[in-house]
Amino acid sequence: MSHNYDLYEYKSCNFISNIHTTEYLDELTNTEIRDTDVIAITYPKSGTVWMQQILTLIFSNGDPAAVQNKLAVERVPWIEIPTMCFLTQTSPRLAVSHLPYHLIPVGLKKKTGKVIYVYRNPKDVVVSLYHFQNYITLLDTPSSFDEFLQSFLEGKVVYSSWFDHIQNWYTHRNEFNILFLSYEELKLDLRKSVQKICKFLGKELDDENLDTVVKHCTFAIMKVNPMANYENVESKHESGSFLRKGIIGDWKNHFTVAQSEMFDQIVEERLKEFPLKFIWDSN
Ligand code: A3P
Repeated sequence: MSHNYDLYEYKSCNFISNIHTTEYLDELTNTEIRDTDVIAITYPKSGTVWMQQILTLIFSNGDPAAVQNKLAVERVPWIEIPTMCFLTQTSPRLAVSHLPYHLIPVGLKKKTGKVIYVYRNPKDVVVSLYHFQNYITLLDTPSSFDEFLQSFLEGKVVYSSWFDHIQNWYTHRNEFNILFLSYEELKLDLRKSVQKICKFLGKELDDENLDTVVKHCTFAIMKVNPMANYENVESKHESGSFLRKGIIGDWKNHFTVAQSEMFDQIVEERLKEFPLKFIWDSN
């Protein structure tokens, strides 16, 4: 399908033309970061939209109207997309970003603001990204899952290598006020995960408000909320949606045994002695 977007490389990371600009990425590096800024960092397809929902609801004390009347990107924009107005938000600024460690505003590295890094097992990331590219107009349709898997492993996808992303953020974690949290933890115990996030942010919610946050952050409720499900985003076909399956272990429906073994071996080699553990299925 023809479109007006292409990937381009800027400082060793792949961005999307017409969405990201090098001028703005340059400017962002030295932008002022405030103590009250909260930024959720993710590699694509690891729980970004989920964090947009969770952060909005925590900061509105569980008021559902906060996620029903405004698009997720207007409440919690991507810092690296100039049209999304992160810089002009009022405090406390809530935001998300897929930026690799080396392109993040330097102010954050001085422990100003708070960072929540959400990671997901990479087999489910690649499956989710594959479907996303088949769905969304601004990214190329992969010719096959096998071909896409190779591109992912070589970092020839938007935001480049998943391995570099997680490794660099983790290696430099001591420069930030940072909480590492996995997609799978969120999925397996959303309430406990929201409590963990609240504790990190110094926010207190009573039981009733916590219940409302959790309810409006479940997959089922988010999927039918047009403000969370990005129904305004241009897609290649009618079937499908931004929030797709929302499960742990969908990779088992896509990977062959050979692909899975090859992937495991690469994870083993690339993440030798890496302390974060991944949850590959929901059992
Ligand atoms: P799937 O494609 O596996 O369904 P991102 O927001 O970083 O682009 O990540 C999108 C992935 O997170 C999609 O995964 C989406 O369904 C999943 N997701 C979003 N909200 C979720 C929720 N409340 N519960 C579980 N998964 C969710």
